[in-house]
Amino acid sequence: MTSTERSRNILITGGAGFIGSNFVHHWCKHYPSDRVVVLDALTYAGNLKSLADLDSHPNFRFVQGDICDRMLVSQLLAEEAIDTVAHFAAESHVDRSILGPDAFVLTNVVGTFTLLESFRYHWMERGKPTGDRFLHVSTDEVYGSLGANDPSFTETTPYTPNSPYSASKAGSDHLVRAYFHTYGMPTLMTNCSNNYGPYHFPEKLIPLMCINILMGKPLPVYGDGQNIRDWLYVEDHCSALDCVLRYSAPGETYNIGGNNEVKNIDLVHMLCGLMDELAPNLPVRPSKQLITFVKDRPGHDRRYAIDSTKLQMKLGWKPSVTVAEGLRHTVRWYLTNPDWWQPLLSEEYQAYYQTVYA
Ligand code: NAD
Ligand code: TYD
Repeated sequence: MTSTERSRNILITGGAGFIGSNFVHHWCKHYPSDRVVVLDALTYAGNLKSLADLDSHPNFRFVQGDICDRMLVSQLLAEEAIDTVAHFAAESHVDRSILGPDAFVLTNVVGTFTLLESFRYHWMERGKPTGDRFLHVSTDEVYGSLGANDPSFTETTPYTPNSPYSASKAGSDHLVRAYFHTYGMPTLMTNCSNNYGPYHFPEKLIPLMCINILMGKPLPVYGDGQNIRDWLYVEDHCSALDCVLRYSAPGETYNIGGNNEVKNIDLVHMLCGLMDELAPNLPVRPSKQLITFVKDRPGHDRRYAIDSTKLQMKLGWKPSVTVAEGLRHTVRWYLTNPDWWQPLLSEEYQAYYQTVYA
């Protein structure tokens, strides 16, 4: 294991989103002298409030812009002498990809291609520095759906994406792979399981349930609630990405997961229990009365499970937060940060909510 420990000029795309903003905080805390530049289009999922405390950080810069804008990306790479890219920007919600896949193909496929191509020129013009890195942050959903007794996904599991979201992420993964094999560009790729934690947009399962419990609204569980996801606390994802950036040889791919498989219905019960314990004035208590089974998501993947042995054995990473601790921390965060999430329940969000749940 060779460390590439040194100061970096890092471009973080999608740094105003859920995982991106957690990663920006992680990086600024651990590497305060690095230059950190965030490029984010501020779509509905991007939120400057998630980065508000970094306004006074001397090495931090936020740029609003689209990763599909080749001129802007190339200019930024040159102007900031970027040597490291951490690419989070994406359309990320499966239900939205079912309603309208166009944006997913544009941002996830064309946007990733634009970044790769801009970085390739930037890297070549600077004499192909061996310490440069292009880290592409992807998902376990590219591997498709597992049966109850199937082994967990490894890095060699064949890609079988089932939703427009996972198909568009699979397309971007293939491009990243090709840029290493064809051009020798120093890429890295990670496929992570479901994340949870602070700054998570309300449309996803865990924040949606927390917010609906606080508002006394029904808790919509898709289908029979027996679908399984493998949950990882977002800070553990950030520490894994940090480890990959610092220690991995280029061209490698790693699965990241917490080995925490939970059925959706069990997870919702855990959240209800935590809210009943921690929230002083719930409109409906016990909150599990709010659980409502609703029509299933089309093409709903049954089970995801990640085998992260490669990352643990080769680079020494391991998760540090248990699901019990992570969920408690997350529930507390939504309880104490209504100023962050309340403004996100906008008219646009209500219209989206009606379309999916009505
Ligand atoms: P998110 O939806 O919360 O954030 C996405 C961010 O990207 C937003 O800030 C948005 O404004 C920005 N963005 C969207 N389109 C853009 C464009 N064209 N140009 C520039 N910025 C744009 O997503 P997330 O949950 O933080 O996921 C981040 C990455 O991690 C994604 O690539 C996703 O596929 C991957 N991932 C997510 C999870 C998860 O559980 N959330 C798990 C594994 C992998
Ligand atoms: P989600 O957070 O959308 O992540 P993903 O689809 O990328 O795994 O959903 C997690 C699980 O929760 C998934 O099996 C779908 C289910 N789910 C519900 O049952 N109800 C909901 O309202 C949502 C948003 C998700």
